[in-house]
Amino acid sequence: MTFPADFIWGVATSSYQIEGAALEDGRGECIWTRFSHTPGKTKNGDHGDVACDHYRRYPEDIKLIRDLGFGAYRFSISWPRIIPLGTGRVNEMGLDFYDRMLDEVLNQGLQPYATLYHWDLPQALEDQGGWSNPAIVDWFAEYTEVVTRALGDRIKGWITLNEPWCSSMLGYLWGVHAPGVQDMTRAYRAAHHLLLAHGAAIPIIRRNAPGVPAGITLNLAPQIPHSDDPLDIQMATRGDGFMNRWFLDPIFKGEYPADLLAEEMIAAALADVDMTRLKEAAVPTDFLGINYYMRWIISSKLDGHDRFPAGSRFTEMDWEIYGRAMGEMLLRVHQEYGPKAIHITENGAAFPDPDTTTDAILEDPLRVEFYKEYLRDGAQWALDQGVPLKGYFAWSLMDNFEWGEGYEKRFGIVHVDYATQKRTPKRSAYYLGEVARTGVI
Ligand code: FCB
Repeated sequence: MTFPADFIWGVATSSYQIEGAALEDGRGECIWTRFSHTPGKTKNGDHGDVACDHYRRYPEDIKLIRDLGFGAYRFSISWPRIIPLGTGRVNEMGLDFYDRMLDEVLNQGLQPYATLYHWDLPQALEDQGGWSNPAIVDWFAEYTEVVTRALGDRIKGWITLNEPWCSSMLGYLWGVHAPGVQDMTRAYRAAHHLLLAHGAAIPIIRRNAPGVPAGITLNLAPQIPHSDDPLDIQMATRGDGFMNRWFLDPIFKGEYPADLLAEEMIAAALADVDMTRLKEAAVPTDFLGINYYMRWIISSKLDGHDRFPAGSRFTEMDWEIYGRAMGEMLLRVHQEYGPKAIHITENGAAFPDPDTTTDAILEDPLRVEFYKEYLRDGAQWALDQGVPLKGYFAWSLMDNFEWGEGYEKRFGIVHVDYATQKRTPKRSAYYLGEVARTGVI
């Protein structure tokens, strides 16, 4: 099985998860600094103060991406490093860091894909309501203007937001992510303003980076009814509205899914929102980024693994491994929404790795099998169906701060020893690098 010669192979990271230097060189506090330093919020009280120390070690990390054989690197830019209080004064030292980092990426011959927002909101903005304050649309536009004016045309793909479902629902509804709020009204308002912020950012990117492809990244997860019991089907449809259509419909059609909007609690949560502006979210884009991790099986009666077919396999996150579902999601998005191009901007898995770094190569057979299956039954299968899939980015380049899970869950294809910051490629890194060079799974 061979991928097209111009297929983009990359690895992905995000600022707060790898950079460290959380309050250095003028970086402002972000909601993840505050949240992770609040007792009980993250596993073992882990935080991103040091993380992978990428802020200092970026030349080594970027060289490694190239040496392994990849052609592209997706990273995110930290809003509070650039504008410490979220709006107003620009921190030149923050811009300089990304300028130097980008030089390194380009010198190594890698294509840079930059995400403007991967969850590290300036705390000063959260203190004013964060994403639930309508003013954030202008705040995000101001930040986008500063960043894209400085770095604009050196980037090969601009991504406005990473997973607005997580920012709004995990952050403001379930409260398991920063800022740790549990408030339905704030959550739906946050989702609304994230959508508008995306719509506001795209024209700014177009102006400052003419000709550079721009889009957004969503985390999509199929919601599969466990049985043909009408209740299972109804719950799965509702789940699909909540997880997938709540963001896909506004971005591609300028409207919220009618079935969910008809729900009294959701309508109430959006009561004070100017709905006429939603069409601004449907600004034309060049690609859709999809972060794909798992499907959900929805049952009104069963819980946990009981919902899944006998013999199902799971990652250490307890996420089911089933590559074909990624292919089917790609096909569905292509057929129902028709983005011009699609990139898998994240896909990967946490497994307990052997904890020795004495070997030259760290064997991670489960992760290798995971990638093989998702590339074959997901990416390659979708290409065969005519889906305009143009790129695939593995999550993640290296083990890093996995949000609420802290450092315990390792998603890296490169192992990080946090005591010494030593990087050791796992077998999966060599495997994917080889795929990137040859196009053969
Ligand atoms: C995604 C996030 C990414 C990482 C993976 C495992 O939801 O975008 O930062 O945490 O999950």
